[in-house]
Amino acid sequence: MKKSLSIVILAAGKGSRMKSSKAKVLHKISGKEMLYYNINESLKLSDDVIVVVAHQKDDVIDAMSKYFNNITFVTQDALNYPGTGGAMMGVKPKNDRVLVLNADMPLVKAEALSGFIDSKKQVIMSIFELENPNGYGRVVIKDNLVQEIVEQKDCKDEQLKIQSVNAGIYAFDNSILEKYIPLLSNENAQKEYYLTDIIKMAKDDNIEIEPLKVDEEYFKGVNSKKDLADAELIMQDRIKSEWMAMGVSMQLPNTIYIESSVVFEGECELENGVRITGDTLIKDSHIKAHSIIEDSIVKNSDIGPLAHLRPASNVEDTHIGNFVEVKKSSLKGVKAGHLSYLGDSIINEGTNIGAGVITCNYDGVKKYQTIIGKNVFVGSDTQLVAPVIVEDNVLIAAGSTITDQKVKSGVLAISRTKMKQIDGFFAKFFKK
Ligand code: UD1
Ligand code: MG
Repeated sequence: MKKSLSIVILAAGKGSRMKSSKAKVLHKISGKEMLYYNINESLKLSDDVIVVVAHQKDDVIDAMSKYFNNITFVTQDALNYPGTGGAMMGVKPKNDRVLVLNADMPLVKAEALSGFIDSKKQVIMSIFELENPNGYGRVVIKDNLVQEIVEQKDCKDEQLKIQSVNAGIYAFDNSILEKYIPLLSNENAQKEYYLTDIIKMAKDDNIEIEPLKVDEEYFKGVNSKKDLADAELIMQDRIKSEWMAMGVSMQLPNTIYIESSVVFEGECELENGVRITGDTLIKDSHIKAHSIIEDSIVKNSDIGPLAHLRPASNVEDTHIGNFVEVKKSSLKGVKAGHLSYLGDSIINEGTNIGAGVITCNYDGVKKYQTIIGKNVFVGSDTQLVAPVIVEDNVLIAAGSTITDQKVKSGVLAISRTKMKQIDGFFAKFFKK
């Protein structure tokens, strides 16, 4: 199967309706660029995946090369031949059968493409029915055969009412593309070469085209920020449903955001409002309400409510309480219950981090590390001025500012001015 199909992904457009300086296909859904999903699904079906680029070509190629090294990029001459038909002009598929996908369909799944792949017809195109077909090309159907696709901007008033829309996915025999692509013209409202015009040309040559009905959930086109948000909702529902099916507990899942790169193992529980992003692994842990975890590893721990694990945090057998921020730190067997900043640190088993403890990791120029050994009691409101190593079995008194670069095992570390009590001061001060 993989050998006999080429897939062309059209990703060269500007995406002006996004009202953004960034190419449309690089806008992200659940943490990854829209185009990523399209390519990822296509590679499950074909080893000849061709991505057509033009607008912000270098950015698009760079972004995708981070994920894939087995796709071909072709550049569209978008200046002289704009439009989805123009995009096909320089494409040379290796196989006789070609699936063409618009790149602005981030919800597509390989399984949902089987109808296109199984069919042997010369031309297949897909439709779905919409209450509000706004923005899509309308599909004129007679006796269950497609007559033509009319782009919204070219529609007569009557045609605007058609609710069957072109999903933007087609399968062709390559001979059809070779025959009709050179014949496309740009005599239309947008002065573009429309790939969709092939359908009418083929029909006029007596090729019968039955519409393949597909589900909007997989083929929704993203043209605007609103479309992007709607697609995000569907993607999130998909990601969360899959993890719940795998045993992850979620309270009020509609309030939870999980990116597509996040992995769960074992028994995990997520409370409402949790956000988990990037390359995060959560294993056998409880993430409490409104916590944020980015690019981190959390094992056998409880986090939050309202905690923030920033990238490169590695937290194991640990309790992180409310208003604790952790960044680029490894905590193993630690309790940090309240209101702390732990950055660029390594903290070992049995250590208690009191409320308000801060690792002062930055001197305005460079970042420095804090290493805290086993069984250290760090009193509340301690500042650890990095670089600093606190050895095992140390007691740091509340309110201390630790400026020694090494605190020796077994000591009490204390840095406070001695407290005074001045008799009669209150009455004198407030003149009572
Ligand atoms: C297109 C279809 C429309 C369909 C809709 C489905 C055409 C003419 N229209 O409209 O019938 O209902 O998709 O979502 O095909 N692109 C290029 N080069 C270009 C222009 C576009 O590669 O010169 C790429 C874009 O990056 C995008 C895709 O083609 O991924 C579709 O382009 P877009 O402008 O979004 O077309 P629609 O107006 O959505
Ligand atoms: Mg589109």
